[in-house]
Amino acid sequence: MEKPIPANSVCTHVGIIMDGNGRWAAKRGLVRTQGHLEGLKTAKRIVKAASVLGIKYLTLYAFSTENWKRAAEEVSFIMTLVKQYLRSEFEFSKKNKFRVRHTGDMAGLPPDIQKELTDSIAGTAGFDGMQVILAINYGGRDEIARSAQRFLEKQNQCSGSPNFHISEKDIHANLDNPDIPDPDLIIRTAGEYRTSNFLLWQSAYSELYISDKMWPDWEKEDLEAALAAFQKRDRRYGGVPSDKPWINT
Ligand code: FPP
Repeated sequence: MEKPIPANSVCTHVGIIMDGNGRWAAKRGLVRTQGHLEGLKTAKRIVKAASVLGIKYLTLYAFSTENWKRAAEEVSFIMTLVKQYLRSEFEFSKKNKFRVRHTGDMAGLPPDIQKELTDSIAGTAGFDGMQVILAINYGGRDEIARSAQRFLEKQNQCSGSPNFHISEKDIHANLDNPDIPDPDLIIRTAGEYRTSNFLLWQSAYSELYISDKMWPDWEKEDLEAALAAFQKRDRRYGGVPSDKPWINT
Protein backbone atom coordinates (compact mmCIF):
# COMPACT_ATOMS: atom_id res chain seq x y z
CA MET A 1 0.00 0.00 0.00
CA GLU A 2 1.26 3.51 -0.84
CA LYS A 3 2.29 5.70 2.09
CA PRO A 4 -0.30 8.48 2.56
CA ILE A 5 1.00 12.00 1.85
CA PRO A 6 1.30 13.93 5.16
CA ALA A 7 -1.13 16.86 5.41
CA ASN A 8 1.64 19.48 5.24
CA SER A 9 3.06 17.98 2.03
CA VAL A 10 -0.10 18.73 0.07
CA CYS A 11 0.65 21.46 -2.42
CA THR A 12 -2.40 23.68 -2.61
CA HIS A 13 -0.87 26.92 -3.83
CA VAL A 14 2.07 27.27 -6.22
CA GLY A 15 3.63 30.61 -7.12
CA ILE A 16 5.88 30.91 -10.16
CA ILE A 17 8.52 33.54 -10.90
CA MET A 18 8.66 33.10 -14.67
CA ASP A 19 12.22 34.16 -15.40
CA GLY A 20 14.61 33.80 -18.33
CA ASN A 21 12.55 34.95 -21.31
CA GLY A 22 15.20 37.50 -22.30
CA ARG A 23 18.10 35.04 -21.96
CA TRP A 24 16.18 32.37 -23.88
CA ALA A 25 15.80 34.83 -26.77
CA ALA A 26 19.40 36.13 -26.59
CA LYS A 27 20.76 32.58 -26.78
CA ARG A 28 18.93 32.16 -30.07
CA GLY A 29 19.89 35.55 -31.50
CA LEU A 30 16.29 36.75 -31.12
CA VAL A 31 14.89 39.96 -29.69
CA ARG A 32 13.75 39.89 -26.04
CA THR A 33 10.09 40.22 -27.01
CA GLN A 34 10.31 36.89 -28.81
CA GLY A 35 11.25 35.37 -25.46
CA HIS A 36 8.17 36.88 -23.86
CA LEU A 37 6.01 35.52 -26.67
CA GLU A 38 7.34 32.01 -25.99
CA GLY A 39 6.94 32.71 -22.27
CA LEU A 40 3.25 33.35 -22.82
CA LYS A 41 2.86 29.97 -24.55
CA THR A 42 4.61 28.34 -21.59
CA ALA A 43 2.27 30.10 -19.15
CA LYS A 44 -0.73 28.61 -21.00
CA ARG A 45 0.90 25.16 -20.96
CA ILE A 46 1.73 25.29 -17.27
CA VAL A 47 -1.73 26.55 -16.26
CA LYS A 48 -3.23 23.48 -17.94
CA ALA A 49 -0.63 21.17 -16.38
CA ALA A 50 -1.21 22.63 -12.90
CA SER A 51 -4.95 22.03 -13.12
CA VAL A 52 -4.40 18.41 -14.21
CA LEU A 53 -2.02 17.97 -11.27
CA GLY A 54 -4.69 19.18 -8.84
CA ILE A 55 -3.17 22.53 -7.85
CA LYS A 56 -5.92 24.73 -6.37
CA TYR A 57 -4.19 28.13 -6.65
CA LEU A 58 -1.53 29.15 -9.15
CA THR A 59 0.04 32.60 -8.93
CA LEU A 60 2.03 33.77 -11.95
CA TYR A 61 4.42 36.71 -11.60
CA ALA A 62 3.81 38.39 -14.95
CA PHE A 63 4.90 41.99 -14.30
CA SER A 64 6.50 43.53 -11.23
CA THR A 65 6.31 47.09 -9.90
CA GLU A 66 10.01 47.29 -10.90
CA ASN A 67 9.47 46.08 -14.48
CA TRP A 68 8.37 49.60 -15.54
CA LYS A 69 12.11 50.42 -15.63
CA ARG A 70 12.46 48.38 -18.84
CA ALA A 71 12.42 49.93 -22.33
CA ALA A 72 8.99 51.36 -23.21
CA GLU A 73 8.66 48.96 -26.18
CA GLU A 74 9.27 45.91 -23.98
CA VAL A 75 6.78 47.12 -21.35
CA SER A 76 4.15 47.75 -23.98
CA PHE A 77 4.81 44.34 -25.58
CA ILE A 78 4.34 42.55 -22.22
CA MET A 79 1.09 44.49 -21.64
CA THR A 80 -0.14 43.40 -25.07
CA LEU A 81 0.67 39.80 -24.16
CA VAL A 82 -1.21 40.13 -20.88
CA LYS A 83 -4.22 41.38 -22.82
CA GLN A 84 -3.85 38.56 -25.33
CA TYR A 85 -3.63 36.02 -22.51
CA LEU A 86 -6.76 37.36 -20.82
CA ARG A 87 -8.72 37.36 -24.09
CA SER A 88 -7.56 34.03 -25.45
CA GLU A 89 -7.85 32.18 -22.14
CA PHE A 90 -11.25 33.58 -21.12
CA GLU A 91 -13.26 30.86 -22.91
CA PHE A 92 -10.81 28.20 -21.76
CA SER A 93 -11.11 29.41 -18.15
CA LYS A 94 -14.91 29.34 -18.37
CA LYS A 95 -14.89 25.85 -19.88
CA ASN A 96 -12.62 24.55 -17.13
CA LYS A 97 -14.28 26.58 -14.34
CA PHE A 98 -11.02 28.40 -13.58
CA ARG A 99 -11.31 31.53 -11.53
CA VAL A 100 -9.10 34.39 -12.71
CA ARG A 101 -7.85 36.78 -10.04
CA HIS A 102 -5.37 39.60 -9.78
CA THR A 103 -2.82 40.74 -7.27
CA GLY A 104 -0.96 44.02 -7.56
CA ASP A 105 -1.75 47.67 -7.95
CA MET A 106 -4.64 47.65 -10.41
CA ALA A 107 -4.90 51.46 -10.43
CA GLY A 108 -1.37 51.75 -11.86
CA LEU A 109 -2.17 49.64 -14.93
CA PRO A 110 -3.20 51.06 -18.33
CA PRO A 111 -7.01 51.43 -18.53
CA ASP A 112 -7.41 48.77 -21.26
CA ILE A 113 -5.57 46.18 -19.15
CA GLN A 114 -7.67 47.15 -16.11
CA LYS A 115 -10.80 46.54 -18.17
CA GLU A 116 -9.65 43.13 -19.51
CA LEU A 117 -8.64 42.07 -16.03
CA THR A 118 -11.86 43.18 -14.34
CA ASP A 119 -13.92 41.51 -17.11
CA SER A 120 -12.03 38.21 -16.67
CA ILE A 121 -12.29 38.42 -12.88
CA ALA A 122 -16.03 39.17 -12.98
CA GLY A 123 -16.72 36.60 -15.72
CA THR A 124 -15.11 33.77 -13.75
CA ALA A 125 -15.93 34.88 -10.18
CA GLY A 126 -18.47 32.12 -9.57
CA PHE A 127 -16.21 29.25 -10.65
CA ASP A 128 -14.89 26.75 -8.16
CA GLY A 129 -12.05 25.24 -10.23
CA MET A 130 -8.39 26.20 -10.03
CA GLN A 131 -7.74 29.84 -9.23
CA VAL A 132 -5.22 31.54 -11.51
CA ILE A 133 -3.85 34.63 -9.82
CA LEU A 134 -2.07 37.03 -12.15
CA ALA A 135 0.51 39.18 -10.40
CA ILE A 136 0.63 42.23 -12.63
CA ASN A 137 2.12 45.54 -11.47
CA TYR A 138 2.87 43.52 -8.36
CA GLY A 139 5.45 44.16 -5.66
CA GLY A 140 5.44 42.46 -2.26
CA ARG A 141 6.51 45.63 -0.46
CA ASP A 142 3.89 47.60 -2.35
CA GLU A 143 1.18 45.10 -1.37
CA ILE A 144 2.12 45.34 2.33
CA ALA A 145 2.15 49.16 2.13
CA ARG A 146 -1.27 49.14 0.40
CA SER A 147 -2.58 46.79 3.07
CA ALA A 148 -1.47 49.18 5.84
CA GLN A 149 -3.05 52.05 3.88
CA ARG A 150 -6.39 50.18 3.63
CA PHE A 151 -6.26 49.51 7.37
CA LEU A 152 -5.67 53.22 8.10
CA GLU A 153 -8.50 54.25 5.79
CA LYS A 154 -10.89 51.90 7.60
CA GLN A 155 -9.76 53.33 10.93
CA ASN A 156 -10.37 56.87 9.68
CA GLN A 157 -13.91 55.88 8.70
CA CYS A 158 -14.59 54.54 12.21
CA SER A 159 -17.00 56.76 14.06
CA GLY A 160 -15.84 55.43 17.43
CA SER A 161 -12.28 55.49 18.73
CA PRO A 162 -9.77 54.55 16.02
CA ASN A 163 -7.32 51.71 16.67
CA PHE A 164 -3.69 52.87 16.54
CA HIS A 165 -2.30 49.37 16.82
CA ILE A 166 -1.72 47.25 13.72
CA SER A 167 -1.25 43.50 14.06
CA GLU A 168 -0.18 40.72 11.67
CA LYS A 169 -3.84 39.80 11.46
CA ASP A 170 -4.71 43.34 10.30
CA ILE A 171 -1.98 43.29 7.61
CA HIS A 172 -3.17 39.88 6.44
CA ALA A 173 -6.84 40.91 6.36
CA ASN A 174 -6.04 43.88 4.11
CA LEU A 175 -3.82 42.13 1.55
CA ASP A 176 -5.07 41.95 -2.04
CA ASN A 177 -6.56 38.44 -1.63
CA PRO A 178 -6.73 37.57 2.07
CA ASP A 179 -8.81 34.45 1.42
CA ILE A 180 -6.06 32.77 -0.62
CA PRO A 181 -3.82 30.43 1.40
CA ASP A 182 -0.10 31.20 1.50
CA PRO A 183 1.90 29.55 -1.30
CA ASP A 184 3.23 26.14 -0.31
CA LEU A 185 5.78 26.22 -3.09
CA ILE A 186 7.47 29.04 -4.96
CA ILE A 187 9.21 28.11 -8.18
CA ARG A 188 11.75 30.32 -9.90
CA THR A 189 13.05 29.46 -13.33
CA ALA A 190 16.34 30.50 -14.98
CA GLY A 191 18.54 29.70 -12.01
CA GLU A 192 18.43 32.88 -9.91
CA TYR A 193 18.37 32.42 -6.14
CA ARG A 194 16.14 35.30 -5.08
CA THR A 195 12.44 36.02 -4.75
CA SER A 196 12.47 39.53 -6.29
CA ASN A 197 9.67 41.10 -4.23
CA PHE A 198 7.22 38.25 -4.97
CA LEU A 199 4.58 37.49 -2.32
CA LEU A 200 6.85 38.79 0.46
CA TRP A 201 4.28 38.50 3.23
CA GLN A 202 2.79 35.22 2.09
CA SER A 203 6.08 33.41 1.40
CA ALA A 204 7.30 33.34 5.01
CA TYR A 205 7.10 29.54 5.07
CA SER A 206 6.95 28.70 1.38
CA GLU A 207 9.30 26.06 0.07
CA LEU A 208 11.55 27.36 -2.70
CA TYR A 209 12.39 25.45 -5.86
CA ILE A 210 14.90 26.86 -8.32
CA SER A 211 15.05 25.46 -11.83
CA ASP A 212 17.97 26.19 -14.16
CA LYS A 213 15.72 25.96 -17.20
CA MET A 214 14.59 29.18 -18.86
CA TRP A 215 10.82 29.80 -18.57
CA PRO A 216 10.09 29.30 -22.32
CA ASP A 217 11.59 25.79 -22.03
CA TRP A 218 9.38 24.74 -19.12
CA GLU A 219 7.12 21.73 -19.64
CA LYS A 220 4.59 19.79 -17.59
CA GLU A 221 7.40 17.40 -16.53
CA ASP A 222 9.28 20.29 -14.93
CA LEU A 223 6.25 21.15 -12.82
CA GLU A 224 5.91 17.50 -11.87
CA ALA A 225 9.59 17.44 -10.82
CA ALA A 226 9.08 20.57 -8.68
CA LEU A 227 6.06 18.99 -6.98
CA ALA A 228 7.97 15.75 -6.39
CA ALA A 229 10.82 17.72 -4.77
CA PHE A 230 8.27 19.59 -2.63
CA GLN A 231 6.84 16.33 -1.32
CA LYS A 232 10.26 15.39 0.05
CA ARG A 233 10.57 18.62 2.06
CA ASP A 234 10.09 18.56 5.80
CA ARG A 235 7.93 21.57 6.64
CA ARG A 236 8.27 22.54 10.28
CA TYR A 237 7.07 26.17 10.32
CA GLY A 238 9.69 27.02 12.96
CA GLY A 239 8.71 24.07 15.15
CA VAL A 240 10.50 20.77 15.74
CA PRO A 241 9.60 17.43 14.14
CA SER A 242 7.42 15.47 16.55
CA ASP A 243 9.43 12.27 15.97
CA LYS A 244 12.84 14.04 16.41
CA PRO A 245 12.25 16.82 18.99
CA TRP A 246 16.04 17.15 19.61
CA ILE A 247 16.73 18.51 16.09
CA ASN A 248 17.01 22.32 15.94
CA THR A 249 15.11 24.02 13.12
C1 FPP B 1 10.96 37.52 -16.93
O1 FPP B 1 11.93 37.27 -17.90
C2 FPP B 1 9.64 37.65 -17.54
C3 FPP B 1 8.84 38.75 -17.48
C4 FPP B 1 9.21 39.98 -16.74
C5 FPP B 1 7.56 38.82 -18.20
C6 FPP B 1 6.70 37.60 -18.07
C7 FPP B 1 5.50 37.79 -18.89
C8 FPP B 1 4.95 36.86 -19.70
C9 FPP B 1 5.47 35.50 -19.85
C10 FPP B 1 3.74 37.21 -20.53
C11 FPP B 1 2.48 37.41 -19.76
C12 FPP B 1 2.06 36.22 -19.01
C13 FPP B 1 0.84 36.05 -18.43
C14 FPP B 1 0.58 34.79 -17.72
C15 FPP B 1 -0.25 37.02 -18.48
P1 FPP B 1 13.09 38.33 -18.15
O2 FPP B 1 12.67 39.23 -19.24
O3 FPP B 1 13.42 39.04 -16.87
O4 FPP B 1 14.25 37.38 -18.58
P2 FPP B 1 15.83 37.62 -18.41
O5 FPP B 1 16.10 37.67 -16.92
O6 FPP B 1 16.43 36.43 -19.07
O7 FPP B 1 16.15 38.92 -19.09
